[in-house]
Amino acid sequence: MMGKVAVVTGGTRGIGRAISLALAGEGMSVLAPYARNRRAADELEEEARAGGLDIVGLRGDLSREAAFRRTVDTIRERAETVDVLVHAAATGVHRPIEELTPKHLRFTFETNVFAIHALLRELLPRMPAGGRVVGLTSSGATRAFPAYAAVGGSKGALDALFRHYAVELAPRGIAVNLVCPGAVRTGALDAMPDTEERIAVAEDGTPTGRLTTCEEVARVVLFLCGDDASQIIGQTIVIDGGRAVTA
Ligand SMILES: NC(=O)c1ccc[n+]([C@@H]2O[C@H](COP(=O)([O-])OP(=O)(O)OC[C@H]3O[C@@H](n4cnc5c(N)ncnc54)[C@H](OP(=O)(O)O)[C@@H]3O)[C@@H](O)[C@H]2O)c1
Repeated sequence: MMGKVAVVTGGTRGIGRAISLALAGEGMSVLAPYARNRRAADELEEEARAGGLDIVGLRGDLSREAAFRRTVDTIRERAETVDVLVHAAATGVHRPIEELTPKHLRFTFETNVFAIHALLRELLPRMPAGGRVVGLTSSGATRAFPAYAAVGGSKGALDALFRHYAVELAPRGIAVNLVCPGAVRTGALDAMPDTEERIAVAEDGTPTGRLTTCEEVARVVLFLCGDDASQIIGQTIVIDGGRAVTA
């Protein structure tokens, strides 16, 4: 992976941050678009510099046209080729159906679904054979959780979209897959209603008895980006301590 380029959306916080560090740790140059938390990006860049890693945060909300264009232009200026594209950025409105307006739903889909489609279209001409596209999905794509309709719906759409990307791009030598973590302690989890209760339920229902870590998810993404994974196409790799298969 030495000298290759990765774009990791949401690559400055939580799971995306760990993915940026894992890919950069293998010698990749990482461009990490994020929405607005400059401090998190600065801290990551500083940590990367201290460790001799190449990670640059790109500030700009990918759901907004002007910021999206700026981000794409910067990526093009910095990278002739993009070998890896990871979509870790996600947002969402957590409300019960009565309170969930179409506007909330659109807001959620803009980042979680439409932004990656737009970005992939822009970067595809720069993706060589051997390229990788990895999306982060969640169990809400296939199961129902309280106040999770918007994000769960967006993840279901992402899953279907990625299956189609996978089949269409495999003949070009580009492998597309999804990673589905169980609950991971990040800002996203903290933003949900009843966080501590949800964590307790998740831990109780997980055979390993604990939550998944950002670093564990990052290592799965790293594997999918490596040469050994070139024949894995259109799959969703679940990393959740066995929660999804528990009765
Ligand atoms: N945490 C979990 O339990 C869990 C479980 C299953 C799946 N996942 C999935 O894993 C992925 C990462 O989750 P996380 O918990 O690590 O999230 P997180 O800690 O909330 O980090 C989200 C990242 O996405 C960026 N972002 C959000 N909206 C954006 C936009 N419109 N444009 C550009 N960047 C944007 C954020 O930027 P700012 O820092 O500027 O806000 C931040 O860097 C998500 O796809 C999530 O659905 C998470």
